[in-house]
Amino acid sequence: MTARTIECGLAIDPYRAVDAQPDPAQFVRRLEERGETPSHARLRRRFLRLARVSPGATVLEVGSGSGVVSRDLARMVGPRGRVVAVDPSRAFVRAARRLARLHGLGGRIDFRVGDGGQLPFRNGRFDVTLAVTVLLHVDAPEAIVAEMARVTRPGGTVGVQDQDFGTVALAHPDRRLTARILDGVAERIYPEPFSGRRLPGLLRAAGLRHVRLRTDVYQDTTLEPYTQAFLERRAENAVKLGIVDAAAAQKWLGALSALARSGAFVMTLNFYGAKGVK
Ligand SMILES: C[S@@+](CC[C@H](N)C(=O)[O-])C[C@H]1O[C@@H](n2cnc3c(N)ncnc32)[C@H](O)[C@@H]1O
Repeated sequence: MTARTIECGLAIDPYRAVDAQPDPAQFVRRLEERGETPSHARLRRRFLRLARVSPGATVLEVGSGSGVVSRDLARMVGPRGRVVAVDPSRAFVRAARRLARLHGLGGRIDFRVGDGGQLPFRNGRFDVTLAVTVLLHVDAPEAIVAEMARVTRPGGTVGVQDQDFGTVALAHPDRRLTARILDGVAERIYPEPFSGRRLPGLLRAAGLRHVRLRTDVYQDTTLEPYTQAFLERRAENAVKLGIVDAAAAQKWLGALSALARSGAFVMTLNFYGAKGVK
């Protein structure tokens, strides 16, 4: 891996305000790249199986980004079903509409601008309501889950999936530095970096019953482009946050490349999927 130049500037979680970023299109590319990474696609599909989305269902996705999950949902519910997707970012909603058309799903998904904390739908409108890797980016996940429960019909399903950044295991010769960079950045840029382990509690607090948890693991042993970009951003943010200097960050990334070249690279990260019945 050739580390990108470490940039200076303020480190924040960009998914909190994508439209305010200098180049919102780069987040569309990131989400699409993640969606196409085979191990990620497997994690998403396992979660969607857990949520039991059936043909003909009316489904809501909250925090739909570029539409990766909604496109899967449209294929699952088929032409008799209906998928509505909400995201606060206008740039994401525009891109999601364009990408759905490109994938032959134009007109099958209703992408709208909206906030998960105030969903513009009547009570009980959806059979299934889902949010995938959204709750770690928000200040009040309880409010979003409560809204998801409100718009789901009695007997319907609410499902949430999130990674948990307290569970990153990364092979690196300098374990202390690795912990400083990974934990230091995650704790300071995300409102809730450990949201994964909170999901069952959030669903129960919203009054949902029969809550189930499924833990899946993102595993990479070759330093795939998605993992590489993730680790480069962590290094960049560690510099921006003053956790390490640029030279130390480059060296840290260089050691990961060396591990990959010798076949010793390993990164795993837990993804938690939880569902409950209204
Ligand atoms: C990491 S992306 C996940 C996108 C998509 N679910 C996926 O898995 O590809 C997080 C998404 O949450 C959205 N988001 C942030 N704050 C939100 C809020 N208050 N309500 C709903 N969505 C929100 C962001 O705009 C972004 O699209």
